[in-house]
Amino acid sequence: MTPDEKKQQVAKAALEYVVPDTIIGIGTGSTANHFVDALASIKHTIEGTVASSNATAERLKSHGIPVLELNSVDEISVYIDGADESNRHLHLIKGGGGALTREKIVAAVSKKFVCIADDSKLVDVMGKFPLPVEVIPMARSYVARQIVKMGGNPIWRDGFTTDNGNVILDVHNLQIMQPVQLEAELNQIVGVVTNGLFAARPADVLLLGSDQGVKKIT
Ligand code: 5RP
Repeated sequence: MTPDEKKQQVAKAALEYVVPDTIIGIGTGSTANHFVDALASIKHTIEGTVASSNATAERLKSHGIPVLELNSVDEISVYIDGADESNRHLHLIKGGGGALTREKIVAAVSKKFVCIADDSKLVDVMGKFPLPVEVIPMARSYVARQIVKMGGNPIWRDGFTTDNGNVILDVHNLQIMQPVQLEAELNQIVGVVTNGLFAARPADVLLLGSDQGVKKIT
């Protein structure tokens, strides 16, 4: 199977986690897009969705799936989203698509976080995928210097602006042995909006598309 076929396979499998008559949180990226397409087939069973990006909101609307503002929602039953890397503790690196901040917010509000990915995303130690950090534009150089002091190599994602009007630094050369600590440390740098480590709030379930079928890690 190609990576995209595995993403499609796992996206369909995630339909099992959709709770009828509730609001579902929806992530961003190619795997989440497959999930949106699959969700369209059962759209009449849910109350609505909250999207983690403008792109996802547009895709949901194109299928006629209701998209709600997070501020008008008390509870999200489940958040379904992809990842760039996961370890076996279900700590994640996210933000390859630049939607990390809204993704982290929607995940925080959700009772359950189901991460869907192809099996290449499971790693022993995270950090090979550059860690995205969303930064207020005027703080870009300052934040980059602080990250260099921490041993990272931050590269500005030139030409990219997040849905929140900010910039992204992709941090290379990290071997993330202590994800919870690093997530907190990066967020302490003034000017950082958030970083793409999802370790303080990891996924609850990881579904991996593979040649042998969908694998589940909890
Ligand atoms: C977007 C994300 C995505 O979940 C992540 O980049 C994985 O993308 P894909 O499903 O296309 O492999 O965090 O900000």
